[in-house]
Amino acid sequence: MTKKIAILTSGGDSPGMNSAISFLVKSALSLGFEPYLIFDGYSGIISKKIMPATKFPYNGIASFGGTAIGSTRFPEFKNEEIQLLAAKNLKELGISSLIVIGGDGTYNGGYKMHLQGINVIALPGTIDNDIEFTDYTIGFDTALNTIIETVDKLRDTANSHRRCFVVEVMGRYCQDLALYSAMATGSEILITHTNILTPEQVSQMVLEQFKKGKPSVIITVTENILPNLKEFVARIEELTKITTKGLEIGHPQRGGRPSAFDRILAAKMAMKAIELINQGKSGLAIGILDGKIQARDITEVVSIQSKKTNELVIKLNTINQN
Ligand code: ADP
Ligand code: F6P
Repeated sequence: MTKKIAILTSGGDSPGMNSAISFLVKSALSLGFEPYLIFDGYSGIISKKIMPATKFPYNGIASFGGTAIGSTRFPEFKNEEIQLLAAKNLKELGISSLIVIGGDGTYNGGYKMHLQGINVIALPGTIDNDIEFTDYTIGFDTALNTIIETVDKLRDTANSHRRCFVVEVMGRYCQDLALYSAMATGSEILITHTNILTPEQVSQMVLEQFKKGKPSVIITVTENILPNLKEFVARIEELTKITTKGLEIGHPQRGGRPSAFDRILAAKMAMKAIELINQGKSGLAIGILDGKIQARDITEVVSIQSKKTNELVIKLNTINQN
């Protein structure tokens, strides 16, 4: 009997998820599996929104952003009864394996399905780059480029008008989008969860930058730090007497055509996931470390909150002030 594999995307979407779906389907078919698509994340298992992947145009989606099979936040999935029902629904359809693409919440859901006897492999699909044991998550690179493009445009007008801008970027509680976009754009001041600065400290730093002859200052902030961006901006303007504006880039960071890096990363991870399913493996999360695609236990991946980029945050702010 042909073995059936189902695929779902869950949590916040990310550019490159479609490339992962496309390569999962193609790799599964090439190894003689019967691939299925589950729509709208974990809720689709409960509502049985599941269809054979061969009835879906999986070949034409890889170059598009978002996820063609939909994604939801379905908090009910934390409930054990719902998990039991999900496993029952999958087993009734003869689906023995499940590939989940998403962030750490999605990984938790996948682990619960693993405990229910489904073979589960997880792929890191999130712009936040907040998953352990992987240097990059699928979507991070595209989101980073979106931020860079936006900040470069801001810089042009900021220079012309000698202004200061506060740019708030996504990342949930991870500082990677803020840190790496600040490095790439030459943003003068960086505020992250590991480097909180008061309006007074920031204003002092802004004034020093202008004193050094800089025509503009860009302050990059990770989301979920400032209680109110508008009030923060007004306070900086009040303290520095320099025209200051704020920009929350928001959801465009989650969209757009995936970069070459994200498409290729997703494809490599997808091929590895199917290889592992073919070997009868379960409860594993795929990552890329030092350029090598590898797998770790999901439990190991979701239980750690590293501070891998802290040193760089401090270094960058110090360098900018000198
Ligand atoms: P992300 O996967 O991007 O971290 P969320 O944290 O919103 O996004 O999680 C996505 C979905 O994963 C949730 O809406 C829920 O369906 C499922 N999920 C999250 N945490 C758990 C958990 N502890 N147990 C089971 N399912 C979970
Ligand atoms: O996890 C991806 C992400 O875009 C975070 O950066 C952000 O905090 C969150 O999702 C926003 O979620 P929503 O689109 O549900 O508001």
